[in-house]
Amino acid sequence: MTPTKSQTPSETAWWKSFYDDVAKVVLADQAPATIVRQVDTIVRLTGLSKGHRVIDQCCGLGQHACELASRGVDVVGVDQSADYIDHARQLAGHRNVAAEFVVADALEYQHPERVDAIYNWHSSFGYARHDAQNGRMLDAARHSLRHGGMMLLEFPNMLHLLANFQESIVSQHPDGVALTRTSRIAACTGTLHQVWEYRRNGQRVRRHESTLRIYLPDQLIKMFCDYGFDDVCALSPCGEPLTPAEPRCIIVGRNPSDG
Ligand SMILES: C[S@@+](CC[C@H](N)C(=O)[O-])C[C@H]1O[C@@H](n2cnc3c(N)ncnc32)[C@H](O)[C@@H]1O
Repeated sequence: MTPTKSQTPSETAWWKSFYDDVAKVVLADQAPATIVRQVDTIVRLTGLSKGHRVIDQCCGLGQHACELASRGVDVVGVDQSADYIDHARQLAGHRNVAAEFVVADALEYQHPERVDAIYNWHSSFGYARHDAQNGRMLDAARHSLRHGGMMLLEFPNMLHLLANFQESIVSQHPDGVALTRTSRIAACTGTLHQVWEYRRNGQRVRRHESTLRIYLPDQLIKMFCDYGFDDVCALSPCGEPLTPAEPRCIIVGRNPSDG
């Protein structure tokens, strides 16, 4: 995509180069207990059980997909990064679980057979500046879902982020990786811009930029409704009614019975 006058390079398809080997170290640094707890929530909110089929939209390194597969759910993980999909396949091998992983663009990926549920986890949505572009992920999801199937979107609770805005956040990760995230909000475009600086032993090894649309929970609910989902609501990470005190939220919607 060629940047237009009103777009900086970081506002184009930044995610294609962002998810590299160093970002992988940070993404892999999720406690197994956290993944298990999140998968418990996914199972509870979707009603998934053994033999059901589910898509992990933007599956990353496949931690959630492999955990679900270990519970007998038939999982297809989709990610645009071939390297991350390789990692996910290796993880499935190590865990001896049968999960399928596909390199594809989740903005358009539709499964050939309808699935029982789809989830999109950990800020993997809202990367483009324009709603119509971001909405393609919801549209693709709805067209892969069976009637009555559930869609979950896990996203920052922007009510919390705006009220507790931190310009700079530093975190430490395995392999001596330190990450500094510097954030700013562009008020006119409603976007959160972040600079990600990775250091090893004090030396800067990588610098990336990202852009995320600042969708408030009610805006995500409206988007779900606009793309044809019903029974849409916003919940806390535990699946309770959402409050502004929660840093993250889960938007839940159902593909209508006649959808
Ligand atoms: C923050 S990571 C989250 C990964 C995973 N869902 C998790 O919870 O660990 C975002 C992932 O979305 C993927 N992604 C972003 N845009 C995508 C797109 N349009 N199609 C497929 N994958 C995409 C990236 O490659 C990356 O692996």
